[in-house]
Amino acid sequence: MAIPAWTENLSVANAELDGHHKKMIELLIGLWQTVERGDGGDAVTDILRELLQLTVRHNAAEEKHMHDHHFPGAVQHARLHEHLIHELRKTYLVPLSKGQLQITEKAVASAARLLIDHIKSEDKKYAAYVAARGAVPSA
Ligand SMILES: [Fe+2]
Ligand SMILES: [Fe+2]
Repeated sequence: MAIPAWTENLSVANAELDGHHKKMIELLIGLWQTVERGDGGDAVTDILRELLQLTVRHNAAEEKHMHDHHFPGAVQHARLHEHLIHELRKTYLVPLSKGQLQITEKAVASAARLLIDHIKSEDKKYAAYVAARGAVPSA
């Protein structure tokens, strides 16, 4: 199973956040291709590190967006972000940096599923909320 590219059905109707999501998926596709080619651990660690840094930056931007729009699920969403980062770090980055993990295509697909499911099920909730109230942040 290859990782599907970003499409409009993942849009949260915000150019900055959609741009982050697109880049995250591109990194996962690049990671998949790197693993498939059998390239060494350094290339894999570099991409994972970049993905993690982008995800941390993106989550902060998304949480600010939710805060600005008074999204009622903001606190719970921030907790999901924390969990997501923890899982990515614990499952992939830490073992990899200790040389304890030989990352497989299956592991990349599972990381991709984690992120894409989050966009589809959770990020879409605030997109719907913002759309319903006219996309204007309250003062
Ligand atoms: Fe997101
Ligand atoms: Fe999110």
